[in-house]
Amino acid sequence: MTAKIGLIGGTGPQGRGIALRFAKSGIPVIIGSRREEKGKKIAQELNEKLNTTIIEGTSNEKIFDQAKYIFLTVPFEHAAETLKGLVNLFKEGHVFVDVTVPLEFKKGYVDVMELEEKSGSEHLKKILPEEIPFVGAFKTLAAHALEDLSNPLNRDVFVFGNKEARKEVAEVINKIEGLNAVICGPIQMARAVERMTALAITINKKNKYKDSGFKLVVHNE
Ligand SMILES: NC(=O)c1ccc[n+]([C@@H]2O[C@H](COP(=O)([O-])OP(=O)(O)OC[C@H]3O[C@@H](n4cnc5c(N)ncnc54)[C@H](OP(=O)(O)O)[C@@H]3O)[C@@H](O)[C@H]2O)c1
Repeated sequence: MTAKIGLIGGTGPQGRGIALRFAKSGIPVIIGSRREEKGKKIAQELNEKLNTTIIEGTSNEKIFDQAKYIFLTVPFEHAAETLKGLVNLFKEGHVFVDVTVPLEFKKGYVDVMELEEKSGSEHLKKILPEEIPFVGAFKTLAAHALEDLSNPLNRDVFVFGNKEARKEVAEVINKIEGLNAVICGPIQMARAVERMTALAITINKKNKYKDSGFKLVVHNE
């Protein structure tokens, strides 16, 4: 059985969408929240949607006891402060997966925040203990596409960060029907991937698309 996915702030649209897709693929998920009761309530709602019991809900702190993959799905504005509050709970064997995107909504387009570290992931990496592998994933996937189980997805997920861990996370993502994990390289690729999210949202707004995602055209010959 695949090790458990834990989601810090998993009660929001992005966390719920990721939880649903993993759970639908038979992968156990724990939804974390600042309020344990809220985590349990959302988990119950998602289980009802899938007619399963594979999703649990608890506090952000308690997911660390059971989950191997610790996903961060809180707003970027609160990501550093949230991570700092939980950083002592990381233990050997955990893999951190950053889903947050430092977006700035401007008039007529979406931009990324100007950060000293050049990307949200590099900003957060500074907080994580050195021995915990850092991976970024799901940054270009829209929550409403993930949450709408009738959406076939049919798109790529850009995965970057620690060399061994990104491969492992990609293998877990590939268990989700409709998703193909593409390994992009080291954490510095967050600079490009986070901008792709800004691009997708702006494209959606300009063209009145409900949803758009990325799929690479690959030639190997
Ligand atoms: N939405 C998308 O389509 C999408 C796509 C790609 C990436 N992302 C990224 O995924 C992350 C989550 O997106 P979302 O739309 O699900 O966000 P959200 O609904 O605004 O927030 C997610 C959860 O974060 C927790 N949270 C809110 N304020 C907090 C605070 N001050 N401190 C600690 N926790 C707080 C809440 O959980 P509790 O109240 O239960 O603690 C909330 O349910 C963001 O960083 C976003 O950039 C989103």
